[in-house]
Amino acid sequence: MVKENNTLFVIFGGSGDLAHRKLYPALFQLYLKGSLNEHFAVIGTARRPWSHEFFRAGVLENLSDGTVEQRETFVEHFYYQSHDVKDSAHYVALKRLIDELDAKYQINGNRLFYMAMAPALFGTIADHLRSERLLSTGGYNRLIIEKPFGHDYESALALNNAIVGTFDQDQVFRIDHYLGKEMVQNIPFIRFANPFLDAVWNRDYIDNIQITLAESLGVEERGGYYETAGALRDMVQNHIMQIIAMLAFPRPTKYADQEINQAKSQVFASLPVYTPAEVATKFVRGQYGQDIAGKQVAYRDEDKIEPTSTVETFVAGEVDLNLPQWQGVPFYVRTGKRLPTKKTRIDVVFKADTSQLFAAQQPVNPVLTIQVEPESGIELTLNGKEIGTSSLIEPHQSQYLLNADQQKQVPDAYERLLLEAVLGKQGNFAQWEGMAGSWHFVDAIRSAWAQEPTVDFPNYQSGTMGPKAADELLTKTGRHWIYQG
Ligand code: BG6
Repeated sequence: MVKENNTLFVIFGGSGDLAHRKLYPALFQLYLKGSLNEHFAVIGTARRPWSHEFFRAGVLENLSDGTVEQRETFVEHFYYQSHDVKDSAHYVALKRLIDELDAKYQINGNRLFYMAMAPALFGTIADHLRSERLLSTGGYNRLIIEKPFGHDYESALALNNAIVGTFDQDQVFRIDHYLGKEMVQNIPFIRFANPFLDAVWNRDYIDNIQITLAESLGVEERGGYYETAGALRDMVQNHIMQIIAMLAFPRPTKYADQEINQAKSQVFASLPVYTPAEVATKFVRGQYGQDIAGKQVAYRDEDKIEPTSTVETFVAGEVDLNLPQWQGVPFYVRTGKRLPTKKTRIDVVFKADTSQLFAAQQPVNPVLTIQVEPESGIELTLNGKEIGTSSLIEPHQSQYLLNADQQKQVPDAYERLLLEAVLGKQGNFAQWEGMAGSWHFVDAIRSAWAQEPTVDFPNYQSGTMGPKAADELLTKTGRHWIYQG
């Protein structure tokens, strides 16, 4: 029996794309599954003068699943408040609505504030929530925020300081939606629930780890944002760093939020700060040009993009963790837009047998692949013997992939993370210390790149796996990318 949660959600930016596409459908799933039932309400705020009915109709449009009746009963819990985040008087009106709904739905003061809007406004909102006394004194007050958390360490720190005046660190839930993905959450289970794997999960047996976050789409309509971000900030600083932490954190004493976050913070603290010379040998950036058929435009010809833009749409690099158990094990990372297919996967490449036991024939590296998306599951590639009388070695592969029915049971990342925030579970949210560490790492790369502003872009064709230099990062050490696209 699923337990119902009493919660009042206040969504700043409630008329926006994120709220409609992700948050409301996720809340509806929680409603269908019983985690939300009668004692909840959602207030959407934005500047436009909408009525509750108009707002509800918009919410309804993005809901599928359930019956018509379930959808209609669900949206009755939605309320709209026209709101200018800079105007103190508007918080008074918002407080009135909050108090009214808290009483009406017997929510007992549990409040979740979601900032689905520009980070520059986070501080203003947090300040007003405190000064206009919108925080409850009865239940809990929690804040959910979305990336980008700054564009470098300094701005991230300023953003953090703007929030922590109102909310304690343990009340702040920083969403990284990769931490809500099924197979990312599965990593510690695969590692620690199999003692034989746990025993070899270190520098003695692992040669390197490869993380690929490939996207087939270009920047689409997000050119304005992307020009201020680039692939390093958009994907590496957050998603890839969180995946590295999941793969590398030392065994916690207990599988509980605090212990997990403490273990992960050791990984973030061990991130290197590369010198410009190291960046030059360990990191590669790229920007897409047209595809071979000339059908897809180059990044520089996309909407809202500078024709001479030097923003990277591709990054590949080597991350060397400064932890004894990972000394000498490169974590190769790679992400880019307009690559051949959408694919998120992790290849854990184990050391090859070098004993010469099999005479002239060299066994290849065993690989454990974690398929994150679009397929979800694991694959293991081992060396074995060719069938028959020969003694030739060949790869044996075994695969466990979720089937279509299982895939349907996988909750969307937002559904999962919203529930975890409602339950007050911090284990799958980005923590400030980790974020600080990954900004220092990323800032060093950016500053090295800034010293060489004239780059030869575009340097990869749309529909390919990025610039050649990304392959050379590995081939120069005798390795190769396991996933070839
Ligand atoms: C977002 C980035 O954080 O992640 C986007 O801003 C990117 O540029 C997206 O497309 C990828 O997420 P997913 O879940 O589709 O792999």
